[in-house]
Amino acid sequence: MAAIAKLFLASLTLLYLSQVLPKKLALGHCELSDIEVEQKSTGEIVKGKTEYEVVINNTCICTQYNIHLDCNGFNTVVSIDPTKFRKIDDYQCSVNNEHPVFTEAPIVFKYAWDIMFDLNPIYSTIACS
Ligand SMILES: *[C@@H]1O[C@H](CO)[C@@H](O)[C@H](O)[C@H]1NC(C)=O
Repeated sequence: MAAIAKLFLASLTLLYLSQVLPKKLALGHCELSDIEVEQKSTGEIVKGKTEYEVVINNTCICTQYNIHLDCNGFNTVVSIDPTKFRKIDDYQCSVNNEHPVFTEAPIVFKYAWDIMFDLNPIYSTIACS
């Protein structure tokens, strides 16, 4: 019995080493938290609302695509280029039409509303080559 248990454990360990570890190593140096969302007021008032500029930057060397931000309640009186930022349901917005955002090529857009919305990254696909 003990021998079978040991064998079982050993094969689980091997499975872990061969399957899980390489993936972790490959993705290890990039995470969702490497998507940086910076916002600031532009100082302009548009249609009575404060205008904000949003910069979405991938600060990691690996490409990230399918980037979704939490945009619950988001609203704006100025239109935003939907290829940069668009609502996909009540809670999520997609960035750059789901296309990759490369480091040092941030996505920039403006919106105007009474308040600044938290636009936290909630999802991305990470592609390290
Ligand atoms: C985007 O991230 C890269 C890598 O950290 C950094 O060098 C660059 O200055 C950032 N760009 C902006 C606009 O924050």
